[in-house]
Amino acid sequence: MSTGNTTGTKNSIALAMTGASGVAYGLRLLQCLIDAGEDVHLMISKAAQIVIAMETDIKISGTPSEMQQQLTDLYKAKQGQLNVWGKEQWASPVASGSGAPRAMVVCPCTSAFLSAAANGTSSDLMERAADVAIKENNKLILVHRETPLSAIHLENSLKLARLGVTILPGNPGFYQNPTSIEDLVDFIVARILDQLDIEHELLPRWGEQ
Ligand SMILES: Cc1cc2nc3c(=O)[nH]c(=O)nc-3n(C[C@H](O)[C@H](O)[C@H](O)COP(=O)(O)O)c2cc1C
Repeated sequence: MSTGNTTGTKNSIALAMTGASGVAYGLRLLQCLIDAGEDVHLMISKAAQIVIAMETDIKISGTPSEMQQQLTDLYKAKQGQLNVWGKEQWASPVASGSGAPRAMVVCPCTSAFLSAAANGTSSDLMERAADVAIKENNKLILVHRETPLSAIHLENSLKLARLGVTILPGNPGFYQNPTSIEDLVDFIVARILDQLDIEHELLPRWGEQ
């Protein structure tokens, strides 16, 4: 079990990975956050673990502390920089407004999570963390991955956008002339890092080329 980073949680970032396609966005974001020296509170849904196994060469499984060690080694995080939390670890700082990180990103974000966030029906830690981010007016970014979008998805997105939540769909632009999947992934991760005010050099900025 993660011991948790109980000091300076306001300066940390929560990252929730749910079981939508596009887990490469979430894993690349995790790597960039760690490389940028951010403390990260990571939550990975059961469905996300399945999609990670299907879409990447990585297999993430076991207890939260085992996943924490695996990902700490994989992304060369400093000791204590990465905390992985299970779905019922309510003692996590992300579960309360008093300990909440400065921002939360759900990447990728399923339509199921979008619905839970829009309707305040939190039933596990990552949904609770989003509920907390909304009530505390903290930055919340949802990288929704779904196509086509139904009226339900659009209504949920509109409701959240009106609450100040950033809806950042996982649909990359092509004007940088991408030559690889990594380029497309970096396009989205760069937009997320911009939203978090984290410096990066993933892509040249518009007008700088
Ligand atoms: C390979 C794969 C891809 C999926 N892609 C999506 C997707 O893009 N968007 C989505 O909303 N759900 C997708 N799903 C379905 C979700 O995983 C499913 O609704 C799950 O219950 C979501 O649970 P979670 O939000 O707790 O992760 C996918 C499932 C699998 C196995």
